[in-house]
Amino acid sequence: MTLAEKAGQMTQVANTYLTNKQDIATYGLGSVLGGGGGGPSGAGGTATQWADMVDGFQSYALGSRLGIPLLYGVDAVHGNNNVQGATLFPHHIGMGASRDAGLVQRVEDITRQEVLGTGIRWSFAPCVCVVRDDRWGRTYESYGEDPSVVSPLAAAAVQGFQGSSPGPTSVLATAKHYLGDGGTTYGTGSSGYLIDQGDTRLSEADLRAVHLPPYQSAISAGVGSVMVSYSSWNGQKMHGDKYLITDVLKGELGFKGFVVSDWAGVKQLPDSTYPAQVADAVNAGLDMIMVPDDYVGTINAIVNGVNSGAIPLSRVDDAVTRILDAKFALGLFDHPYSDRSYTAQVGSAAHRDVARQAVRESLTLLKNDGGALPLPRTGSYSIVVGGKSADDLGNQTGGWSISWQGSSGTHTTGTTFWQALQQATAGTGITVQNVGTRTKGRYSADVGIWVGGETPYAEGQGDSSTLAFGSDNSSQLGDICSRVKTCIAILYSGRPVIIGDQLPKAQAFVAAWLPGTEGEGITDVLFGAGFTGKLPVSWPKAVTDEPINSGDGKTPLFPLGYGITPY
Ligand code: GLC
Repeated sequence: MTLAEKAGQMTQVANTYLTNKQDIATYGLGSVLGGGGGGPSGAGGTATQWADMVDGFQSYALGSRLGIPLLYGVDAVHGNNNVQGATLFPHHIGMGASRDAGLVQRVEDITRQEVLGTGIRWSFAPCVCVVRDDRWGRTYESYGEDPSVVSPLAAAAVQGFQGSSPGPTSVLATAKHYLGDGGTTYGTGSSGYLIDQGDTRLSEADLRAVHLPPYQSAISAGVGSVMVSYSSWNGQKMHGDKYLITDVLKGELGFKGFVVSDWAGVKQLPDSTYPAQVADAVNAGLDMIMVPDDYVGTINAIVNGVNSGAIPLSRVDDAVTRILDAKFALGLFDHPYSDRSYTAQVGSAAHRDVARQAVRESLTLLKNDGGALPLPRTGSYSIVVGGKSADDLGNQTGGWSISWQGSSGTHTTGTTFWQALQQATAGTGITVQNVGTRTKGRYSADVGIWVGGETPYAEGQGDSSTLAFGSDNSSQLGDICSRVKTCIAILYSGRPVIIGDQLPKAQAFVAAWLPGTEGEGITDVLFGAGFTGKLPVSWPKAVTDEPINSGDGKTPLFPLGYGITPY
């Protein structure tokens, strides 16, 4: 390999910036990614369209001088969530509530199959972040606040994607974002955010105790890649932290896979020029740079860095070795193109059944006065449903769903709560109606079910200074509950929100997190399947309690591990 070809393998480009696909061959690019919503024609696209796109890029890579296959990556963080018709599972915070490592492994094994169906062999998942301040917009990407909850689920996720080790039917997993992404201090966010990409101000002992265990678990499970965090540790940007990346992750923990930057993360380093930033990052231990745009500048920076002595050639050789080891392990040299036998399985009924089970196990019952739940399946009675999310698939799936930020409304195939309730009561003596957000009308019923909460967001755009329940939600919940005998609240949220004033309105209160496409999992439990969920985070009484975590001496509204089971 020439030095330029080695540098090409270390360079990852977003599909949206590859206007001249021939450049993949010309520069020997190692990887292409689709960022959130980066589909064949913008957000969405069918599995077949995705597989056609990925195979198209691959054909150019195989036409390069050495014919080294591309490794294509996406954020399949709760199913292959960019793809229309894919099965979308509960986000990590709901899986954290399940505490079910076996289920997490099954979920990610199905995600593996639905990612393979699009010709993609690398997922930027699982996020093994340990969320310590729920005001963070990425709280829902975390399995919880306690590393003893996160670690076993992290290992299970890696094994779901990869199997016992990366192989010809694996999707390479990514433990992210290293290190301390969930521990940043409120008010230190960068890129204009309140807390996201901020500064994790901890002693090394505390950093290791809280944030490192999930990486140890992921490495023990054979994780093939690690993504570096935008955040800093005591003022040092992680993308330039040689001690934590090279000495700790690669040395002490023995990580043999490759380390990838976050999207344009290298450009946040304090160096004065991009070439200097690249040299700083590569010397710190980054093996692949998610540029995602200026790939020529990145290749030149690496080549010139080596030629000037700023970057040791041995560092480049180590990086390229790690990347090629992964490509060989995945069997990409033998089978570079998509295996279309998986494509037809994307969004299959069997996959959705597992997602339905995941929804059941994620639900956490916070209140159940007077035996409000379970609802009888027999007898004759009336149910009125309302709230902005009762029939809104987009609110049910949250961020990282078809588009990066997600969106309210109907954006893919799935079953809303209202559709699930209609299915569950069909042919029974139970009459149902949905008033939606028109909750002030004249109606009454034996049972009321409010479904509402947060609308979709992702990353720092979801950072919150209030964790507010929302005046619309409060009004609609109050309207419904004042018109029925028994009232049930179902909250869709990526994190705890302030519900102290809301709890008295309803006899039963369910934290449903962000369930994904299979709303039947909720009605299964309401009609008797039984709750098993346990809070993966402490639930604050007020936003001023944050950060609030088990053992910190503060008194939460509901503690880590709380959940009424089965009713
Ligand atoms: C984003 C996220 C990271 C994701 C990457 C590629 O900014 O921080 O989690 O994997 O960019 O989409």
